[in-house]
Amino acid sequence: MADVERYDSRTILLHWLSATAIVAMWLTAQSIDFFPRPERIWPISVHIALGLLVAALTVARIVWKISGARRLPKAEAGLLGVVAVGVHHLLYLLILSVLMLGITLELIRGDTVFHLVQLPSIAPGNAALRHTVNDLHGLLANGLLILAGLHGAAALWHHVVKKDGVLERMRPAR
Ligand code: HEM
Ligand code: HEM
Repeated sequence: MADVERYDSRTILLHWLSATAIVAMWLTAQSIDFFPRPERIWPISVHIALGLLVAALTVARIVWKISGARRLPKAEAGLLGVVAVGVHHLLYLLILSVLMLGITLELIRGDTVFHLVQLPSIAPGNAALRHTVNDLHGLLANGLLILAGLHGAAALWHHVVKKDGVLERMRPAR
């Protein structure tokens, strides 16, 4: 396993920063209901700020992937390899969809962020639209977390059961 070819350090950094920020986003969203209504501005503001970070990381990741990132051969031959690549594409698609729906939701709501910035609302009073976009945003965010969990479990299965160095490809340099 020592001589495994790894992704370049920027790809590895962007992967782990994005994964951590996405899990943190999901957790901040779950925490909102635990706050009394007037205090919800704080977890919502953290959620929005982290959302901008995930958006920046995702753009950086896609630009780097198509411009200079190291490409490695598929980790698996045959159908499993095709499924793994399909899952990676689906993860990107879900991240982009959740981000776009989050931004749309915020444009509909127009929250005050950290008591500092009042965001504009493009559809004030349209509760039906707000609920629809909110539900879709939450549904796809849950789907993203489930798929990412399966993807992480598959990486751990490679590491523990197959011992083939796939997890090592995404390991930061020591
Ligand atoms: C990958 C990134 C994101 C994840 C995983 C995520 C996850 C979630 C989840 C699970 C909810 C709860 C939905 C429900 O009520 O069922 C939520 C709500 C929300 N999200 Fe996101 N979100 C992301 C990005 C964003 C972005 C970029 C914005 C805006 C700029 C945003 C704004 C909101 C707002 C305003 C709510 C409603 C909060 C409330 O219930 O009052 N999200 N998000
Ligand atoms: C929210 C969480 C996560 C997301 C969104 C995510 C997303 C991705 C994506 C899109 C790729 C494709 C390569 C790239 O474009 O950078 C990838 C590769 C990889 N991820 Fe994750 N990941 C997450 C969590 C994890 C976790 C928890 C693990 C390990 C336990 C992991 C291990 C790996 C490995 C080993 C690869 C390389 C696989 C290969 O070379 O075929 N990821 N991940």
